[in-house]
Amino acid sequence: MTAVDLIIFGATGDLSARKLFPALYQLDAAKLLQEDLRIAAVGRQQQSVDDFRQDLRQKMSGYMREAIDDAVWARFIGRLDYLASDFAEPQAFVALSDWLDDRRVSLFYLATPPSLFSTICEGLHDDQCLRGPCRIVLEKPIGESLATSSQVNETLARFFDERDIYRIDHYLGKETVQNLLVLRFANRFINSQWDQSCIDHVQITVAERVGIEGRWAYYDGVGQLRDMVQNHLMQLLCLVAMEPPNSLEAESIRDEKVKIVKALRPIDAETVKEHVVRGQYSQGVINSQPVPGYLEEEGCELTDSNTETFVAIKAYVDNWRWSGVPFYLRTGKRMPDKVTEIIIQYKALPHHIFGEGQGAEPNRLTIRLQPNEGIEMSMVSKRQSLKDKLSLQTHTLNFDFREDGDIDRIPDAYERLFLDAINGDPSLFVGREEIEESWRWCDQIISACEQADVTVSTYQAGSWGPSKSELLIDRDGRSWNV
Ligand code: BG6
Repeated sequence: MTAVDLIIFGATGDLSARKLFPALYQLDAAKLLQEDLRIAAVGRQQQSVDDFRQDLRQKMSGYMREAIDDAVWARFIGRLDYLASDFAEPQAFVALSDWLDDRRVSLFYLATPPSLFSTICEGLHDDQCLRGPCRIVLEKPIGESLATSSQVNETLARFFDERDIYRIDHYLGKETVQNLLVLRFANRFINSQWDQSCIDHVQITVAERVGIEGRWAYYDGVGQLRDMVQNHLMQLLCLVAMEPPNSLEAESIRDEKVKIVKALRPIDAETVKEHVVRGQYSQGVINSQPVPGYLEEEGCELTDSNTETFVAIKAYVDNWRWSGVPFYLRTGKRMPDKVTEIIIQYKALPHHIFGEGQGAEPNRLTIRLQPNEGIEMSMVSKRQSLKDKLSLQTHTLNFDFREDGDIDRIPDAYERLFLDAINGDPSLFVGREEIEESWRWCDQIISACEQADVTVSTYQAGSWGPSKSELLIDRDGRSWNV
């Protein structure tokens, strides 16, 4: 295997301390990193490598469930260098260029604001950092619309081959999200019942307890649709709806996902009110603690904002498999619980033979992505009784992932993604076409909302969103799972 150098830009930022370095440390602790992997942390701050390491240890500890092990830490920092660089200055990467080794793959990881992507790529090119084999990993957001995401992609294409560009959607790194592929394509009985003839509807909920976590300035220009639907919910929808790929090769999976995004029925100004609900939280109580409303969050200087912190969408995938099956998508901040789940609601039986009032409840498959990772299947069985000869009851078969596997914790998504990027496997990263098609669909919704004046409805923090979101699904004679 070719030796790899990992270069992290934005190494002193929040994401690096919260997610990136803890993931790398965990991989080192599990002895999953190549022995000779070197890591260069690149940040703007002028400081010595020792100061960087010390500061990092302190910051990381606040985000880790277990204390840092001294022996693992010693090994880890043995790989870790620090290079100060002001990205915007000419010749910012000369020191990096000296540090790189042409015989090894350079894996550049951009954990910086997207506004710096093109400056960094140009600087790397000008300072001869792209002379050997290289790959680039990018954090979201890749643009904030189809136009801006195409611009970012164009810039990347000037310097890197598409096969060397690894666009992160951290949801794809979650163990449970990958398990969706296995559930669908390794279980014949599931796969053969996976279409409009058997499935009544699908629900995808990504609810968070947190608010906007000190990111008001960023978030107010973005909102929940761009922040969560365009990427994470879209990926979940694709994995649920796509056709079986020919193989696990990145191209094969991406091709099938793109077909789904392209098959999404556009939502326009005429249909938007029936298909989309937007909400914004006001103050409330979560977990017995009072929490502020969106307009009272730290960093807000406005008295009014039409940015959504909640969105519910009724979507259709117009293809043979999913014709007429609604996909109800819902995501929001400051909900009562953190829940990410997919519900596959099967149709009712066409004919009941068990008598009046014995309507067997339709089966329901619940895929819990987080927390309590697992799968539940509701099944109807006979109640054990002599009195009632054939009385029915619904049971739940429960498969809890935490009781499974060879590790005592569910690994963080970034651990998987780092391993794959280091090993050169792009199958869990997002392709250019997927991202751009997804923006195309979301852009239409955003402009339809503007044209039809779909404003945000207030919901109390700690509730499941505005009452209109209940109506969105009630109207069809259905209800949200939670
Ligand atoms: C990020 C969003 O991509 O995902 C955040 O920018 C959101 O707003 C986060 O809170 C949710 O990720 P997770 O893994 O906690 O579900």
